[in-house]
Amino acid sequence: MSCCSGQPCTNVMPTSDDGIVKAVTDTYGAHAKKAGNDPEYAKAVAAAFGYSAEELLSIPAESHMGLSCGNPTATASLKEGERVVDLGSGGGIDIFLAAPKVGPTGQAIGLDGSQDMIDLARRNAAKKNLKPPHVSFVLANLEKEFPIESNAIDCIISNCVINLLPDAGKRTVFNEIYRVLKPGGRVVIDDLVARKPLPEKLKQDLNAYISCISGSILEEEYKRNLLDSGFKDVLFVDKKSDLNAYWEGGKAGGCCAGDTSDSAPLVQKPDIASDINDWLGSYQIYAIKPKNEQGEVTIPPTALKRWWDAYPTVKSTPPSLTNDEVVDMIRNPGGEKDFVVIDVRRNDHAGGHVRGSEQWPAQTLYDDLPGLFNKHKDTKKVIFYCQSSNGRGPRSAGWYQDFLDGQGEEGSGSKAYVLQGGIKGWLEKFGGQEDLVDKD
Ligand SMILES: C[S@@+](CC[C@H](N)C(=O)[O-])C[C@H]1O[C@@H](n2cnc3c(N)ncnc32)[C@H](O)[C@@H]1O
Repeated sequence: MSCCSGQPCTNVMPTSDDGIVKAVTDTYGAHAKKAGNDPEYAKAVAAAFGYSAEELLSIPAESHMGLSCGNPTATASLKEGERVVDLGSGGGIDIFLAAPKVGPTGQAIGLDGSQDMIDLARRNAAKKNLKPPHVSFVLANLEKEFPIESNAIDCIISNCVINLLPDAGKRTVFNEIYRVLKPGGRVVIDDLVARKPLPEKLKQDLNAYISCISGSILEEEYKRNLLDSGFKDVLFVDKKSDLNAYWEGGKAGGCCAGDTSDSAPLVQKPDIASDINDWLGSYQIYAIKPKNEQGEVTIPPTALKRWWDAYPTVKSTPPSLTNDEVVDMIRNPGGEKDFVVIDVRRNDHAGGHVRGSEQWPAQTLYDDLPGLFNKHKDTKKVIFYCQSSNGRGPRSAGWYQDFLDGQGEEGSGSKAYVLQGGIKGWLEKFGGQEDLVDKD
């Protein structure tokens, strides 16, 4: 998809919404790979849109690349313990500013449609030792259902993203925002908004669209999308920032015509004669989900529908061992480092576990992999189980095997397995046998 410096090879707008989303996220994904290449440009754009020097110093330098058009966490009034979701989180800039505000009891979740952006944001989070469930980055297409529970979120933020969604997505995204917000929850969105109808030629310019320019819509249309989704108290504030900040310093040029270096900015100067500020403005948009419209609602205990979405997808498929094979190992041990059985259940392990098994809960296992590896890198068979070994067990085994595979020669002394049937099958067969079941 990308030709020079991460820009799409063609400047023709795709005809389908899926094509537009792919062109956009592929281009941002290519740009994610160049994060950190031009810190001066990134800093200048961030400063132009309201970030303070202290804020920028407090976050990883690679978390922003000059792609923002505002600073939503500065006005979102985030409080200790709140859950905040950032739509189109990029390298994580606003999530890293939100995380200290919501504190360790709160949650900051970034959603982005580019796997490369998600990978970048997760690497940035690791630099700050920020982990799920406190800080999570999850791959999600914003035109589709969010991977978030209903009535779960206190505040939705977004920074220069909604204008990138196709027209239908610009409407449906607010239905999803409304669904996931708690009653009384709020929206603080920074976005570019058209001051007057944009020329048709510009609207058909893919580079201008990807540069957050030609997908911008009029305030009245934007407002209608919010109100149609059920929001009340919608407020648009023109921040009056100078949009020329994106291409100041002589860096811009059309695709394959301007700066093609690794530090070329993604936002390209559009082909229009007059000042860009006459056409578009950077706005901050506030809205509140009314209370009591749905009567009493239950606030879900977790925000993410699937906790494992906050971690990399498992690549390997470790083999299974039957419970008879594992019984044989327990009763006839070959040596001290022959095998270990790992129980990955967390609170649901009442009723017994495989005798001698170690507990490493699946929900935190990904972050604990270095510790598990250090302890068991010379253990030949590391056998994982959960309740039935259908979900957490194979997932944990897969993460461990992926980790081993990433260690090269050092990881070759150990191998992941799954206990077939999990503890359920084990207890059904050996429930009364003390040498095989620990009742703690
Ligand atoms: C202009 S950048 C802004 C990034 C970030 N908010 C910031 O201020 O640095 C837009 C981001 O939105 C993401 N994005 C664009 N379209 C999307 C879609 N349809 N679904 C999910 N993410 C999308 C891109 O991958 C990119 O990371």
